[in-house]
Amino acid sequence: PPGTTLDGSGALVLGGVPAPELAATYGTPALVVDEVAIRARARRYADGLAARWPNSRATFASKAFPCTAVYRLLAEEGLGIDVAGGGELTLALAAGADPAGLVVHGNAKTEEELRLAVEAGAGTIVVDNFDDIDKLEKILRDTANATTGGEQPVLVRVTPDIRPDTHEAISTGQNGSKFGLLLPQAREAIARLRGSDRLRLDGVHVHVGSQILDTAPFAQAVEAVAELGEFAVYDLGGGLGSRYTYADRPPTVEEYLDAMIDVARRLLPADARILIEPGRSMVAEAGVSLYRVVSVKRGGGHTFVAVDGGMGDNLEVSLYQQRFEAAVATRPTGEGELCRLVGRHCESGDTLSAGVPLQDPQVGDLIAVPVTGAYTYALSNNYNGARRPPVVFVKDGAHRAVVRRETYADLMRRDLP
Ligand code: LLP
Repeated sequence: PPGTTLDGSGALVLGGVPAPELAATYGTPALVVDEVAIRARARRYADGLAARWPNSRATFASKAFPCTAVYRLLAEEGLGIDVAGGGELTLALAAGADPAGLVVHGNAKTEEELRLAVEAGAGTIVVDNFDDIDKLEKILRDTANATTGGEQPVLVRVTPDIRPDTHEAISTGQNGSKFGLLLPQAREAIARLRGSDRLRLDGVHVHVGSQILDTAPFAQAVEAVAELGEFAVYDLGGGLGSRYTYADRPPTVEEYLDAMIDVARRLLPADARILIEPGRSMVAEAGVSLYRVVSVKRGGGHTFVAVDGGMGDNLEVSLYQQRFEAAVATRPTGEGELCRLVGRHCESGDTLSAGVPLQDPQVGDLIAVPVTGAYTYALSNNYNGARRPPVVFVKDGAHRAVVRRETYADLMRRDLP
């Protein structure tokens, strides 16, 4: 993966730090994140978008990695921040994100969450349904938004009825999706918002799914929102896929931007502002999970290599059948034995890879699973009393923990006597 090399002994080096040194310092499992790779990706998005459409902003869909250190990093790079609900909103503000750059999402935003967003001066709230409009009207009747002078900018989330080729659980643009409004309902919401004196309709939002590996759905989404008329703002969402396995060939950031902006040049007003919200593709390839082999078991034609983590720190396999590569981090990867890389949790779905060649796997070996920067931290959990792993930033040969490993005491922290 990007930012990784092998040292003289064939050990994996992450952001200039040998993987064995990271494992010795922080233990395993650990999520190692190359800060330089995230910053580079953020700039590639921001610069690539600005070069194609100057009145624009790249926003980070923070659900992909909602930890304050990551919010800080992307806020420092000048990106806006997309938050889903009050929790991510609070994290973004705590990390020092500019409220004006916040885009607030959710298909079930409570009045409390919307109030939090309005009072924080969130630059954009995305209306997903008519109830959002009712709640916001009510909130704005008694709250003067300091940054907007009592007028809250909003976008309408549109469901264009597009079906990208991705896992059904992360497909959001089709008729039947719980997100957004189909074109006829979106038109109705737009008309209502145009008549509102407290909500300022800036434009429309569209996001058709995640881990999308071709550019066509992105172009189709822009065509669909263009049908709704001319607006000041078009938020084109996220969704670009990442390269999890050697076989994956996602479009590049530039190909992805070209696909959308080519349509925008034809169909959107030249002075409109364009926002994008990449999440996964901003952080996935910057992350590598490190595990220690606990057991190697052979039988029935299978080799099970069991590690000290699994679905507690990576739900991507269980939830979306995502495929990952893996390697012994201390030896050069060569021809290996086809192994099932499994976790420590009490169910058969707890697999990190159903078939990966590992060279002579031994108990105590360090295993690296690359491309784990997106949605793993976000979905990590305490199943079987697992302590969630630390997040370690690496940068030019230096390393620092930005999230510590949970302790057994943490597991009881919310329990009442
Ligand atoms: N904008 C909105 C409104 C979204 O709902 C999402 C993701 C994004 C942007 C960012 O999409 P991305 O660039 O990351 O594809 N938990 C799942 C992923 C769910 C994605 C939900 N929405 C997973 O672990 O694969």
